[in-house]
Amino acid sequence: MAGLKERYFADGADPSGERVRLEALAGFYAPWTQDWLTRRASLKPGMAVLEAGAGSGAMLRWFAQVVGPRGDVLGLDRTLAHMGELPAPVRLMEADLYDPPAEPGRFDLVYARLVLEHLPDPDAALVRLSQWLKPGGVLAIASLDFADVKAISGGEAGKRFDAGIAHIQAAIRDTGLVDPAFGRTLKDRFTAAGLETLTEDVLDRVSEGGSDWSRFLAANNRVIGAMIGADPAVVDSVCTLMETPGFHFIDQKVHGVTGRRP
Ligand SMILES: C[S@@+](CC[C@H](N)C(=O)[O-])C[C@H]1O[C@@H](n2cnc3c(N)ncnc32)[C@H](O)[C@@H]1O
Repeated sequence: MAGLKERYFADGADPSGERVRLEALAGFYAPWTQDWLTRRASLKPGMAVLEAGAGSGAMLRWFAQVVGPRGDVLGLDRTLAHMGELPAPVRLMEADLYDPPAEPGRFDLVYARLVLEHLPDPDAALVRLSQWLKPGGVLAIASLDFADVKAISGGEAGKRFDAGIAHIQAAIRDTGLVDPAFGRTLKDRFTAAGLETLTEDVLDRVSEGGSDWSRFLAANNRVIGAMIGADPAVVDSVCTLMETPGFHFIDQKVHGVTGRRP
């Protein structure tokens, strides 16, 4: 199944179902992301913010609150089909982030979360995204790294989980859908793209089976497992453990990297 990376994995998904999935995903990652951006992006009322791959638009609502009515918030996605209701001063643009910037040099912050790891050429995307920034503006990218997902709980269940995760990751690597270790490569990619004053933060946590988050993760893994042709019994055993209270595992990480346009 080579070539899956040429398209985003939810392409063709039912729009209302995909909106609910994207809203839920954004909700789970909102507290960490907002804390990270508050510390690293020096956001202030009146600033101009671009979000690329804005999905359901959940973060656009937060940016609107932070920059206020004198600010500017542009949400860009290649499909606006999943956007919810959005307040002023949010505006939307349906475009591909590889396109030349429609408003070059305009933004104080350009932000994208859970987007670059899905793209065929993330380095070209970084260069494109930085072209929307004012000189001195901040590029902030958050990407997944799930190469270290591992059971904390021991015994047979822990061994079954680790073997299942290894099987799923091998299938993901074979398809080229996403590099499981993408997040840890982000900072070097920022350097190569010519960004300066880099910072890196990592969301690194242990999760418990049966939590809202772990059940969401299990549901996602079932969809992805079917797409990549992984053994359904193996996928089911991993997902069942993610749904089991008392089972603990090292969760997927999110790497957040910021850098300034010279
Ligand atoms: C996994 S979702 C993440 C949504 C949101 N950033 C979040 O963290 O909740 C990825 C989003 O990137 C968008 N996307 C993927 N490839 C894109 C491209 N080439 N140009 C613009 N948007 C793209 C998808 O349409 C989708 O909305």
